[in-house]
This record gives sequence, C-alpha cells and structure tokens, in this order.
Amino acid sequence: MSQKIVLYPDPVLRKKATPVSRISREILDLIDEMTRTMVEADGVGLAANQVGSLHRIFVINTTPHDATPTPVVMINPEIIDQEGSVIEQEGCLSFPNLYVTIDRADRVTVHAKNAFNEAIVYETTGLLARAVQHEVDHLNGVLIIDHVSTDEDKEAVEQWQKNVRPGVEV
Ligand code: NI
Repeated sequence: MSQKIVLYPDPVLRKKATPVSRISREILDLIDEMTRTMVEADGVGLAANQVGSLHRIFVINTTPHDATPTPVVMINPEIIDQEGSVIEQEGCLSFPNLYVTIDRADRVTVHAKNAFNEAIVYETTGLLARAVQHEVDHLNGVLIIDHVSTDEDKEAVEQWQKNVRPGVEV
C-alpha cells in the first residue's frame, strides 16, 4: 500500500522540512514509499511534506510523458541557478482539481544528494524545471495558492474552495 497524500489544509504542508543528515533505512523506506505514491497518483513530483514527513526530500518523474516512469530522488535539494521565465498552468496533488497560472524560471540547476549519498547536479528545463521549483517550494512550506496573482486565478481558488473543499480557509 502506498502512502496517503496529504491534502490542504493539513498543517504539515505549511512546515519547513529539515535537512537529512544521514540516509538511514527509514529514509530509504520513505523514498520508496514516496516514489510508489507519486507513480500511483500519476504525479510529476511529490515532496515529503505531502506524505506527512518533514525530511528535505522530493521525488520527480523525469519521463512524465512516457508509459514507464523514471523517478529521481533529491535529498537536501538546492536550486543554485535559474534562468528565464515561463507562465504556465500548474496543479498539485494536495489540491485536487485546482490549476493556477504560475510564473517560474524556465531553466534550473539543482544540487542534491541521491539515495547513495552521492552529490548530484541536475540541470533541467520546461515541465521538469517547473516541477523542481514546485517541490522545493513544498519543502519550504510554500504552496501553489501563494503564487496566485490574477483575478482569474483568485476566482479559480474560490471555486475550488467552494466546490472541492467546502469550509476550508484559503
Ligand atoms: Ni504540489
């Protein structure tokens, strides 16, 4: 069984995740579970907060358009360079059926550790660059609703609140 994805407004989504100091058995199990959960949910990425954990880890599927997913894990990720700007619609597994337009960098360079405690450098563009920025936001307690700026998106959030999550304050 994969983990349950935490939905807004669970407070864990607003917490800042803590750097991983040692890649223990528990961390490896968490990574396995997060990967399985992301693939089952057909997501492009998933951050630890979204399964109720506050370790600084996210997974992304680097082949989102292929039948076979290629998950990559990033432990203690840091965006060290970014370039360009693209405005696109974006969703989040913690906000089912909500899509808002977000201005993100087009290209990012990330430093992280993989599950073998090796330093990795990941350079990406387009959808995956967007996913990386989205997941790093999660690890800092930042959510898609924090990026809403247009009236259209404010309306989308209101509708979502009314129809999908009645009673939830956004
Ligand atoms: Ni998300």
